[in-house]
Amino acid sequence: MEATGAAALSETFVMIPSSVKIVDVGPRDGLQNEKQPVDTAHKVELVHRLQAAGLREIEVTSFVSPKWVPQMADNAAVMAAISRQPDVRYSVLTPNLKGLEAALPTHPDEVVVFGAASEAFSQRNINCSIAESVERFAPVVAMAHENGLKVRAAVSCALGCPYQGEVSADEVEHVVKLMKAIGVDHCGIADTIGTGTPKRVQAAMERALKHFPLAEVSGHFHDTYGQALANIYACLEMGIHQFDTSVAGLGGCPYAKGATGNVATEDVVFMLNGLGIDTGIDLDALVDAGAFISGVLGRAPVSRAGKALLAKREKAAA
Ligand code: HMG
Ligand code: MG
Repeated sequence: MEATGAAALSETFVMIPSSVKIVDVGPRDGLQNEKQPVDTAHKVELVHRLQAAGLREIEVTSFVSPKWVPQMADNAAVMAAISRQPDVRYSVLTPNLKGLEAALPTHPDEVVVFGAASEAFSQRNINCSIAESVERFAPVVAMAHENGLKVRAAVSCALGCPYQGEVSADEVEHVVKLMKAIGVDHCGIADTIGTGTPKRVQAAMERALKHFPLAEVSGHFHDTYGQALANIYACLEMGIHQFDTSVAGLGGCPYAKGATGNVATEDVVFMLNGLGIDTGIDLDALVDAGAFISGVLGRAPVSRAGKALLAKREKAAA
C-alpha cells in the first residue's frame, strides 16, 4: 500500500541529537598549511578567542617534525602561553613516541594519532605504510593512557584520496579496526579532500559505528567541494554528535594538494542553531574570532555565515 503524504513524512522523520560537541581544529589544521609565518602570540590569541566564544574542545597544535610542517614548530610555546580554562579540553597531534614525549610536558588533555585509509596518503603524510603507522601508534596510545590522556584517532582520506582516488568503506573499516585494536578511545572519520557526499559518508560512518560507540565517533569534513554541511546533516541523522570544524574555514593539509579548509565553525553553528541544536557557542563572539584570525592572515573569512554576519553588522552600523 502506498503511504499518504503525512505518513511518508513521519516515516522519514528522524531524531537528530539535541546537542553537538564541536572541536575547533583551526589553530592546528587551520594554520598548519599557512605559508606565511603566524606569530605564536596570534595563535595563542586565537585559542583565547575561541574559548571565550564558548568552544570547549580546541585542537591547539601538533608535535610533528618541524621539517615537515614548519608552521607547528612553536607547538610547546603555544601550549605554554595559553591561559587555560578548567572546562576547556586542549588536544594536540602526536604521530609517534617522539611527538608524545615532547607533548606530555605541555599537558594536553587529549592526543590525536592520525592514520589513513589509503596507503598512498599514509606514505606521503607520515612516511610509512598503514600497518607501520599503527605499529607506531600502539606505544603512543599506551603511554598516553598511562598518563591519563584520552586518545583520538583520525582516519584520513576516508572518502577519497588525492593520490589513490576512490577509497572504499572496506578500506575505512580496515583502519578503524586496527585503531580499535590498539585501544584508541575515539575514532574520527576524515574527508581530507572533501569529495564525500551524504550517502557515502553514512556508509563510512556505519563502519566506524560497528567498532566504536556513538559518542566516540566524529566527522572531520574539509569543504573543498561544498559538501560538508550536507555531510554533517547526514551524520546527525545517524545520531553522530561530534564534529571537527575550523574557525573562518581556515586550513588544509600540506600533504593533500588543493584541499581547502575544514568546514567553517561559524557555518556549522549557524546551521545547528537553526536546527535548535545546542553547542554552547556564542555565534557573534565566534564571528569575531574568525575575523581576527582572517585579519592576521590578510584575507576575508572563508565562512559564508561569518561573512554574512559581518556584512549585516556593517550595514547596521552605517
Ligand atoms: P620521518 O622522517 O619518517 O621520521 O617522519 P623519523 O623517525 O625517520 O625521523 C626523522 C627526523 O624527524 C629525525 O630528526 C627525528 O628526530 C624527527 P633528524 O635526526 O633528521 O634531525 N622527528 C620528529 N621531530 C619532531 N616531532 C616528531 C618527530 N618525529 C620524528 N614527532 C613524521 C615521520 C610523522 C614525524 C613526519 O612524517 C611528519 O612530521 N609528518 C607531518 C605529518 C603532518 O603533520 N601532517 C598534517 C597533519 S595530519 C592532517 O592534517 C589530517 C587530519 O586533519 C585529518 C584529515 O583531514 O585527513 C588530522
Ligand atoms: Mg584535516
